[in-house]
Amino acid sequence: MDVTQALLGEHGVVHLLVEQLEEVLERYHTATELRAAAEPLAITLLGHARIEDEALFQPYEKQTGSLGPLKCLRHEHELMDRQIRVLFRLQDPQALRAQIRALLDVIRRHLAREEEVMFKAARDAIDKGELEHLGHHWAEFRGVKLGD
Ligand SMILES: [Fe+2]
Ligand SMILES: [Fe+2]
Repeated sequence: MDVTQALLGEHGVVHLLVEQLEEVLERYHTATELRAAAEPLAITLLGHARIEDEALFQPYEKQTGSLGPLKCLRHEHELMDRQIRVLFRLQDPQALRAQIRALLDVIRRHLAREEEVMFKAARDAIDKGELEHLGHHWAEFRGVKLGD
C-alpha cells in the first residue's frame, strides 16, 4: 500500500477528532476538563506527525534534494508540537480554550496543505515501489497487518 494513502486515512481520524473537540469546547469549564477533551487529538497528532516525517517527509527530501512544500509543513509540525506542550501547562480555562482554538486552526490549515499539495508532490517525486515500501514501514510502526 502506498504510504500517502495510509497517511490520508490517518487524516480522516484527525478530522473527526478536530470536529468532535470543536463541538464540546464550550461545554467544558475547567482546565482539567478542557485538557482531557483535547488529549485524544493531541496524542493522535503527535504520533501522526512523527510517522509522517519519518515515512514521507524524509524520503521526499532525500529523493528531490529540496525542501519544496516541506519547509512550511515542518514549521507547522513544530508549531503544533509547541502548542500542544503549552496546552498541558496552562491553568487558566479561558487561556486554555483559546490555545485549543489556535491549535485547531493550525491543524485544519496543515491538513488541507498536505492533502492538496504534499501527498501529490510525494507521489510525483517518489517511485511507486518506494511508496509501497514506505507503506510497509508505516504499517509496522502502527502495528497494522497489511496481509500481502
Ligand atoms: Fe503533517
Ligand atoms: Fe498529515
